[in-house]
Amino acid sequence: MLNALSKAQLPRHVAIIMDGNGRWARKRHLPREAGHVAGVAAVREVVRAAVDLGLENLTLFAFSSENWKRPKTEIGALMALFRAFFRSDMDELVAKGARVRIIGHRGRVAGDIQAMIEDAETRTAGNKGLNLTFAFDYGGQEEITNAARELARAAAEGRLDPETITTELFAARLFTSALPEPDLVIRTSGEHRLSNFLLWQSAYAELLFVETLWPDFGREALTQALHSFAARERRFGALNSDAVA
Ligand code: IPE
Ligand code: IPE
Ligand code: MG
Repeated sequence: MLNALSKAQLPRHVAIIMDGNGRWARKRHLPREAGHVAGVAAVREVVRAAVDLGLENLTLFAFSSENWKRPKTEIGALMALFRAFFRSDMDELVAKGARVRIIGHRGRVAGDIQAMIEDAETRTAGNKGLNLTFAFDYGGQEEITNAARELARAAAEGRLDPETITTELFAARLFTSALPEPDLVIRTSGEHRLSNFLLWQSAYAELLFVETLWPDFGREALTQALHSFAARERRFGALNSDAVA
């Protein structure tokens, strides 16, 4: 058993690249879709654990802008699961005080999903509990490019002096403008890459790569990850007090 962590030891924002559903299914001689179904159960467990632990911000990478390259049948199954999750879990999320946001392109997903996303965001807009964000049809490079395009347009139209563009102003144009930067980015399934997730926002995030496949990740794995975060020494480019002569 791990000791309980104090609020001060917890990351303010945990972001997770939920990877390994397909391999989880393959190990069981099941279709990839079965891995995604099991992945949704892991989402449910991790969200419940995050609420119980008092985490402020949890962001889950559910579908990348590059995942459109997958076979149509798999994309269809993922979209169906997204719909089913919102239908079955919204009431619980509302009851738990979670504020739900979806970051991503939006325009490429089906109309009914767009409506569901808007409904989830409006229904939970006043909630003060866990900020639960799903990165869905999300790509970090696309997000940064869009922000750059918006600023360039404003400058071209004379509404913005390019000299006033600061990192803060730029960050305010990203999907995540309402959230603090992630302190901890976890990727499951043993892959050591970001796959276009929160590229700007993760500048000083602690990265944690675990072997666990996403469907096997749950309350205990999250707790372990938080302990591993609590043991990290963050410097943000400066020196810690004991290193200063
Ligand atoms: C993560 O699992 C879910 C999504 C990317 C939507 P994968 O489907 O990538 O599983 P692996 O990496 O093939 O095992
Ligand atoms: C990243 O996983 C995207 C999500 C977890 C939603 P992928 O499985 O798509 O990433 P790559 O292709 O292995 O880099
Ligand atoms: Mg994968």
